[in-house]
Amino acid sequence: MASQINRIMSTAKKEVKRITTHTLQKMKNEGEKIAMLTAYDFSTAQILDEAGIDVLLVGDSASNVMAGHETTLPITLDQMIYHASSVIRGIKRCLVVVDLPFGSYQGNSRKALSSAIRIMKESGAHSVKLEGGAEIADSISRVLSAGIPVMGHLGLTPQSIYKFGTYTVRAKEEAEAEKLISDAKLLEELGCFAIVLEKIPAKLATRVAAELTIPTIGIGAGNSADGQVLVTHDLLGITKDFNPRFLRRYLDLFSEIKGAVGQYIDDVKSKDFPNEKEQY
Ligand code: KIV
Repeated sequence: MASQINRIMSTAKKEVKRITTHTLQKMKNEGEKIAMLTAYDFSTAQILDEAGIDVLLVGDSASNVMAGHETTLPITLDQMIYHASSVIRGIKRCLVVVDLPFGSYQGNSRKALSSAIRIMKESGAHSVKLEGGAEIADSISRVLSAGIPVMGHLGLTPQSIYKFGTYTVRAKEEAEAEKLISDAKLLEELGCFAIVLEKIPAKLATRVAAELTIPTIGIGAGNSADGQVLVTHDLLGITKDFNPRFLRRYLDLFSEIKGAVGQYIDDVKSKDFPNEKEQY
């Protein structure tokens, strides 16, 4: 009886085919687009995973979206680990990538490795993402040497916002576009399993996707990347003051939630809630 139950349970477990970095490579090879979104908490991760998302990014955009900071710079490694472990508890199938936050890897490959190891060990995440190209090659190599899968991030890299000065499209000029292409090739050579291309001309993203073997995931980079990523709160219309051209909003949850809460307030004030059926 016990062995029968064990067999049923292991069959049930096998039914969930987990997404790995190899799955993403296979998807690129077979021309299937990769769908990626951000998540920072258990409940949202559970919904997105059940909906069939391929990759969840515990992005340092949590600094903006969850904490209300103006940039991604203030979020700490401990806070990223808290968000990542909440997301991990909510998922069964998708691949989870976690941003190494600002100050946890730049200019110090040993620090990069210890930050990445803390994320993997303390949150149970599957991989990490680092922003930048040749400047952080040592950090990427050292993290990879520990068997930790690394996703790259080129183009608009928000951790460098004070260097750029604005959030406008990157790599419109030839010199910056050539640097981006050579960085993308370097990240592939180092062993990154995928690269996010943020806010660059669609033509440039098309060229990068064609010249690389590993998948590229675009945000504001046109339709030729091998996958797309958006910040979930933007897609659901929870954030309302961020309206870049690349964003498609699928819901206006800000208004929906505000309406529902307004109704609740009215019901409490008018003593309509709770009614007889809603009490003991
Ligand atoms: O932190 C984040 O949400 C990101 C995506 C915009 C790619 O890095």
